[in-house]
Amino acid sequence: MAVFFSLSSLSHIWTMISLTLVFFWIGFLSVVPYLALCFYGAFVCKEQNLKKKYNAQWALVTGGSSGIGAAIVRKLASQGLNVVVVALDDALMAKFKDTIAEEFPNNQFRFVGCDLSDAEGQSYLDAVKQQTDDIDIQILCNNAGFISTGAFADITFKRNMANYHTNVTAGLTLTHYFLNKMLDKGLKGLVTFTSSSAGFIPNPMSALYSSTKIFLTTFAASLAAEYTEDGIDVLVVHPSPINSNFYSNAGKMSALLSAQKLSSPPSVIADTICRNAGKVVVSDQGPITVVMKVLLVKLLDWNVFTEIMKIALPFNGDYKAMKLRRQAKQD
Ligand SMILES: NC(=O)c1ccc[n+]([C@@H]2O[C@H](COP(=O)([O-])OP(=O)(O)OC[C@H]3O[C@@H](n4cnc5c(N)ncnc54)[C@H](OP(=O)(O)O)[C@@H]3O)[C@@H](O)[C@H]2O)c1
Repeated sequence: MAVFFSLSSLSHIWTMISLTLVFFWIGFLSVVPYLALCFYGAFVCKEQNLKKKYNAQWALVTGGSSGIGAAIVRKLASQGLNVVVVALDDALMAKFKDTIAEEFPNNQFRFVGCDLSDAEGQSYLDAVKQQTDDIDIQILCNNAGFISTGAFADITFKRNMANYHTNVTAGLTLTHYFLNKMLDKGLKGLVTFTSSSAGFIPNPMSALYSSTKIFLTTFAASLAAEYTEDGIDVLVVHPSPINSNFYSNAGKMSALLSAQKLSSPPSVIADTICRNAGKVVVSDQGPITVVMKVLLVKLLDWNVFTEIMKIALPFNGDYKAMKLRRQAKQD
């Protein structure tokens, strides 16, 4: 009996050790190559001149009038590229027109003031075509986007769909148009997407935003393989928090306010694009994105994380405030 007991506990211990080793090995296989790729993208890849790399004259940047987009415009202009800036036709755009022309007197700029939230895409596509008919866009940066915060049902459906079309449809529309133009002419090029680490995990209280961003990531990763042989690179960037109007337009959500405190200047994304173009497809920029990916995606299972989120959300201040507002409305 005693011999049987010790044999059985030995086999339990052996099973435990084996399982631990298997899990460790799986974690090792997943985390180490990922960190190596991040290290390569952040430290080994050196800055590239995209004008020379793609033998290009013109780039187009959406959301180019502020924040990350404006930093991309400045970076590309500093490399000698001419840039078409596509953004809302508002005061920001008017101011940007003057400053960018003063900063780069030897570059050409064109401006398309339009609303990218149009469901069909036809209105802004016509405006973009008009401004680019006589030039070859070889660098397309799909960057415009915003976040709507709050519970999905509390945000008007119109606003939700405008958010969806700006973040997703606009990128699809312009990418389809300019990819075909590059392919028809046999031109080399680059298509970038500004996605977000918010897409890695379920994001209650900004559900649509994270869903649109993970769409962009998957879409870009799939496109990259389709066009490598044609000399067209695709790059999707997941920024760590970046100091921009993104936060002032987002509403006062506590998670976003905390993220903003850790933010970096928009120029780091422009630098990342110039380093990573054609070198990696998915670029997780900055320590916050990398730590988030390792902890919440690689080490913790997504399904399990979803269950944790469901249990934890009622303790969140923004959620509690939303419930109080809803209650007050019903009373
Ligand atoms: N900031 C961050 O921490 C962070 C992190 C991850 C990902 N991102 C992503 O980075 C991208 C750029 O954001 P940002 O941080 O630079 O914010 P931002 O300063 O607010 O820039 C957003 C740009 O998109 C334009 N835009 C917004 N809605 C538009 C519409 N319907 N039609 C045309 N243009 C529109 C804005 O024009 P107006 O300024 O005139 O509205 C602005 O030029 C977004 O896709 C965002 O989701 C940002």
